[in-house]
Amino acid sequence: MNTLTIDSLELKGKKVLVRCDFNVPLDENLKIRDDKRIVDALPTIKKIIYDGGKLILMSHFGRPKGKVVPEMSLKPVADRLSELLGKKVILAPDCIGDEVKDLVSKMNDGDVVLLENLRFHEEEEAGNEEFAAKLAELGEIYISDAFGVCHRAHASVSIIAKYFDKVASGYLLKNEIEYIGGAMKNPQRPLAAILAGNKISGKIDVIMKLIDISDKIFIGGGIANTMLLAKGIEVGKSLVEADKVDIAREILKKAEIKGTKILLPLDMLCGKEFKNETELKYFDTDKQEKDWIAMGIGEKTVLNYKEELADCKTLIWNGPMSVFEFENFAKETFEIAEIIADYTQNNGLISIIGGGDTAAAVKIAGLDDKYSHVSTGGGAAMEYMEGKKLPGIACLSTKGFDPNRRFLIAGNWKMNKTPRESIKFAKDLEKVMINDDNVEIMVAPVFNSIYPVYSELKKTHIDIGSQDVFWENSGAYTGEVSVKMLKLSGVKYCIIGHSERRQYFGETDETVNKKIKAVLKEGLVPVICVGEMLEQREKGIEKQIVKDQIEGAFAGIELNDYLNVVIAYEPVWAIGTGKTATPEQAQEMHAFIRSILKDIYGNEFSQATRILYGGSLNVQNAKDLLSRPDIDGGLIGGASLKKDDFSKIVEIAKEI
Ligand code: 13P
Repeated sequence: MNTLTIDSLELKGKKVLVRCDFNVPLDENLKIRDDKRIVDALPTIKKIIYDGGKLILMSHFGRPKGKVVPEMSLKPVADRLSELLGKKVILAPDCIGDEVKDLVSKMNDGDVVLLENLRFHEEEEAGNEEFAAKLAELGEIYISDAFGVCHRAHASVSIIAKYFDKVASGYLLKNEIEYIGGAMKNPQRPLAAILAGNKISGKIDVIMKLIDISDKIFIGGGIANTMLLAKGIEVGKSLVEADKVDIAREILKKAEIKGTKILLPLDMLCGKEFKNETELKYFDTDKQEKDWIAMGIGEKTVLNYKEELADCKTLIWNGPMSVFEFENFAKETFEIAEIIADYTQNNGLISIIGGGDTAAAVKIAGLDDKYSHVSTGGGAAMEYMEGKKLPGIACLSTKGFDPNRRFLIAGNWKMNKTPRESIKFAKDLEKVMINDDNVEIMVAPVFNSIYPVYSELKKTHIDIGSQDVFWENSGAYTGEVSVKMLKLSGVKYCIIGHSERRQYFGETDETVNKKIKAVLKEGLVPVICVGEMLEQREKGIEKQIVKDQIEGAFAGIELNDYLNVVIAYEPVWAIGTGKTATPEQAQEMHAFIRSILKDIYGNEFSQATRILYGGSLNVQNAKDLLSRPDIDGGLIGGASLKKDDFSKIVEIAKEI
């Protein structure tokens, strides 16, 4: 599945509407304090000007909440852009309306107009379709380059794309996807992550995800206090999140299970009071005295981290190592920033700086151009790292650009294989499975084999699924397994509502819905099965049956959650019977499922959803089925139990 970027479009003479994120910080005199977001958008902007396009830029600015707030005008941005381009950038009086249309109609090739703050209209944040359509009228091509807001389903970010035949990502967005997406999906190893900053809250999902994929994790900042406390180490008067100590324990436990090395500070720089002008002292972490406050990592820790970072090939850095806003406590954060800059420049380290605070710290250190990539996104970067689909990226998929709609080839082992056989099979798979960016692989063993199989495969690209799950987290539910338990056993995907469970174990659309919600709440991916029985197909009601199942499954599920689900169409009459739906039958039903999803969540999002086919999928029919436009992988029973067949199907998917 290819990605469409600005390079593939003919821009000459075209009105090119570009969504940027020019939400830059201003000082009290309304002067721009940091123009990184403007500077990083320049490659896209210059390309359009040089190619002779008519460039119409749009952005939000601050939080005016749907009202015109003069201090939140984009005027300072228009002025700065004019300076940087050496060319007049005209600021439009609004972002929609006749006056703006008129202004745009008079543009010459190479002209630049910046629309006024999109958020002066409340419809922007509400994701209003009419507003999006009005914006869309201004351009012939839509370019998305606003990574910083791609996690929002706002009108100009994601809704707008459907009004264009031609959409693409700009260079800024492409870079973000390549660096962050690349590090998360296919990193050069060892992969390290620095997790620091004030708080664990808000970062739990990222931390859990990074534990999954990293080889080493370095802890610093305020997070370190809570982590140390979780290990039973006293931290004096330091800032801790008492209600997050249990989570910190879970994090440490998960890292141990995963075999991810966690590095905690050896010493801390402490202050008597939480302010810049105060008495300072270094303490070894196990010897910190009661009335001191830890404000960052110490010197021994810097040396230790320097040594441990030396062999790393990729690094994701999120969160400052100390309270760097206080000059007297900034030294260690800057030292780490220097070490990483040095390794990037001289050691071939791929360094990715994510999150607003960290980007600010490296900027103050004067090192921001010394890293491989400094993300322009705060929240967006975090959600992207968590592996979530971002509406602003997913919406580009209708036009063939979607880095997320990759094939998923999933093996449902059903009630087959003992733990010993499962481990052996996992070892065999590890040897034969190709690693390709276009194909994700999952195996779903029997419950009691999940953890052993996971232990075997945890550092490979093969993910683990469960064949079912229960919606409660704990309690008197004999025989059931919760999402949390599965998560701690290494599960990423939960198959829900398999026809065999519907048929033999009383699974209903209602229980399916409860399970999906429980799975999404824990950040795992539900694989939701739907499909009709033979007699239903013979009666010609198969579409109605599947429609009811889909609507039941998604009742009360919000768009942002929906983006993370996978669907599997499994006609019951084709399962384990050797009878496969013909590629035409399967494609017809997949397209129908997508149309139902479109009615619920809108076209661009339904296009981003993966719909797998299941039911006697095998080496012989795989190519024909997987080549169909709406079939995004397979949920495979019988053929997934043979390593050569399963790997062959993965191979076939890779070639498509
Ligand atoms: P078969 O591939 O054995 O028909 O099984 C399909 C299935 O039920 C996968 O979940």
